[in-house]
Amino acid sequence: MKIIMLGAPGAGKGTQAKKIAEKYGIPHISTGDIFRANIKNGTELGKKAKTYMDQGLLVPDELVVDLVVDRVQQSDCQKGYVLDGFPRTIPQAESLDAALEKLGEKVDFAINVEVPDENIISRMGGRRACVGCGATYHVEYNAPQKENVCDACGEGLILRDDDKPETVKKRLDVYHEQTQPLIEYYGRAGVLKEVDGTVAMEDVFQAIVQILGA
Ligand code: AP5
Ligand code: ZN
Repeated sequence: MKIIMLGAPGAGKGTQAKKIAEKYGIPHISTGDIFRANIKNGTELGKKAKTYMDQGLLVPDELVVDLVVDRVQQSDCQKGYVLDGFPRTIPQAESLDAALEKLGEKVDFAINVEVPDENIISRMGGRRACVGCGATYHVEYNAPQKENVCDACGEGLILRDDDKPETVKKRLDVYHEQTQPLIEYYGRAGVLKEVDGTVAMEDVFQAIVQILGA
């Protein structure tokens, strides 16, 4: 089962992708997480990506496409995978399709998690990310048991650099301009599924399970 998560920044793609990966036993591949891990480890890729991410801009396609195309061919991806944050531009989607076609494969589901811009701004301000394992929380909707401490690994929680209000606005503009056209792209391919992302996390997940099958 090859699944793509679509949706604005903060729509809940990562939250749902983790649940999907767990339920269906497939890897969760988040390009945002890959870049953040590279930044943390001070790699060349991380240094390059950071300059774009901090401004709310997309990292250039050439830095992300090969990385994902390689990743989806690893042995743990044979049963499928859930891609979160990729593709994000039409050229990225075309590159993925071309690579899959060579392997005789295709995307099965593109799930669009719909949340209006107004809700996004408040969600991002309340998001906290673990510096240790990358787990995400929300101060109101998904609070950790102990304030600012990760339930999973005990490390501290921070506001992501790109979750500051000015940067969130820029990310939303970039989303509407460069990523939203993918909804039509996958609609034409006949794999688009829409879910309401404004309801509680568990209800969003139930809607997704209805689509993917139990
Ligand atoms: P990335 O990490 O992918 O960021 P994003 O798409 O902006 O998505 P987010 O992680 O911000 O949000 P999400 O939709 O996963 O929401 P979440 O589940 O956390 O990318 C970061 C940057 O990397 C990009 O800006 C770009 O520079 C670069 N990049 C990455 N991929 C790239 C690519 N392919 N090409 C080029 N550049 C790339 O939820 C958000 C909050 O809401 C959380 O606090 C959560 O707890 C809460 N929440 C979730 N669901 C609900 C709900 N139903 N009700 C209430 N609260 C909820
Ligand atoms: Zn953690």
